[in-house]
Amino acid sequence: MRLTTAIAAPGQCRYKVGMEFDPFQYMRYAKRIEYADGIYLAGSGMPVAKPDMLGFKPEDFELDSLCNSYGDPRNMDWLADHYGCGGQNVMLAAGSSSANFLAFATLLSRGDRVIIETPGYPQFFSLASLCGAEAIKLPRRFENRFLPDPTELRDLLDEHTRLVVLTNLHNPSMAHMPADHLKQLIGVAAEREVPVLVDEVYLDHLVPGQGDVSAWGLGKNVIVTNSLTKVYGLSGLRFGWAIAPSGMVSRMLDLADVVDPQVVPMTQNLAHRALQNLGRLRPLARRLHEAHWPIMHEWLETRSDIEYHKPEGGVTVWMRIKGISETGNLATVLRNEFATLVVPGEYFQSPGWLRVGYRIEPTALREGLARLGKAIDGFRTH
Ligand SMILES: Cc1ncc(COP(=O)(O)O)c(C=O)c1O
Repeated sequence: MRLTTAIAAPGQCRYKVGMEFDPFQYMRYAKRIEYADGIYLAGSGMPVAKPDMLGFKPEDFELDSLCNSYGDPRNMDWLADHYGCGGQNVMLAAGSSSANFLAFATLLSRGDRVIIETPGYPQFFSLASLCGAEAIKLPRRFENRFLPDPTELRDLLDEHTRLVVLTNLHNPSMAHMPADHLKQLIGVAAEREVPVLVDEVYLDHLVPGQGDVSAWGLGKNVIVTNSLTKVYGLSGLRFGWAIAPSGMVSRMLDLADVVDPQVVPMTQNLAHRALQNLGRLRPLARRLHEAHWPIMHEWLETRSDIEYHKPEGGVTVWMRIKGISETGNLATVLRNEFATLVVPGEYFQSPGWLRVGYRIEPTALREGLARLGKAIDGFRTH
C-alpha cells in the first residue's frame, strides 16, 4: 500500500505527502499488540534486561558522554575489537533498524534493484520502497532448511542490482546460515561487485564458538548490522551499529549529519557498561531457548497439521498450518476469541504461516499453545 493521499492537517489546510513508501505494517501491529491483554506469543526478543546485571553507575545518567558527535570512543573501540576492523568501519546508529536505513539510503536510489531474502523482515521492503528501489525476492525455502540457493541468487543479480539483504539467524525461521554457505552467497554477489547486507541481530542466540561467525570478514563487499536489542533485552537503549567498508561509513556519516546530528549521550554511557557485561547477559538468552523450546516442541509434535523449522536459537518458531492460507484471519480469531497473540505470516510475505514466540513463562506458554490449538481446530470447521 502506498501513501499517496494528502495528509489532512489541523485547520483545513491539506499538504501533499513527500516521500512515497510502503508503510512498515508489521511494526505498527507489533507496537499495537505489545501492551494488549492476552497471552503474548508474538515477541521475538528477550525480556527487558535487569539493570542490576549491567553495572550502571550514577555518572552514566549525565547528559554528556566522552564524545557525542559520532559515538563514544570506548564503544567504537569495543566494536572495532569485536569485529577485528578499524574505527573507520564502525557506524553507530539507533538500533539495527536505523543501521539498516543508513545502509539502504547510502546504496540505493530510484530505479535500482535490491535482492531481499523472502520470507524476510518487512522493514527491508519498506526501506526499498523509500529509496524508490525495486525489491526482488530471493526465496528461503522450508525444504532447503531456509538456506538461500547461490545459483538462484546468481540468476537474480543483474546490472541494476545494488544490494543483497540477508539475516543470520534468519527472521522469521531462526535458521542459522553456516559461514561457508554465507561466504558462497557473498562470493556470488561479489562477482558483480554488489554489497551484501547481513543483519545479525539474532546471531548471538547461538552458543559462543558454535557457528556464531559474523559475515564481516567473509568478503570485502559485506555490511553487517546489529544491536543490543534482541538477544540482550536492551531495545530501550537504542544502541545499534553498522560495520561497513570505510567509504560507505563515510557516506553514512554524511547522512547522519543531515538527520541525526548527535548520538544520545546517555545511550552511549549505558551501552558502554552493557558492552562490558555482555558476557553475563548472553547466556540468559540461550538458557531461555533451551528451557522453553522443549515445551513448544512437545506441543508441535502433537499437531500433525503443522510443519515447522526447528530454530537454532532464539525465542520464536516459524510454522506452517497445513490447509489454512488465511493465517491473518486465524490470528485475529485467536486474539479476539482466545486472547492470545501471535504474528501472522502475511507480515513476512507468507500467508499460511505463523511466527509463534515462547519466551513467556511455562504455564502461560502451555495455555497459549492450547488456545492456539483450539483456534486452529475451530478455524478448520468454520
Ligand atoms: C531482522 C531484524 N532486524 C532489526 C530488528 C530491529 O532491531 P533494533 O531494535 O535493533 O532496531 C528486528 C526486530 O524485530 C529484526 O527482526
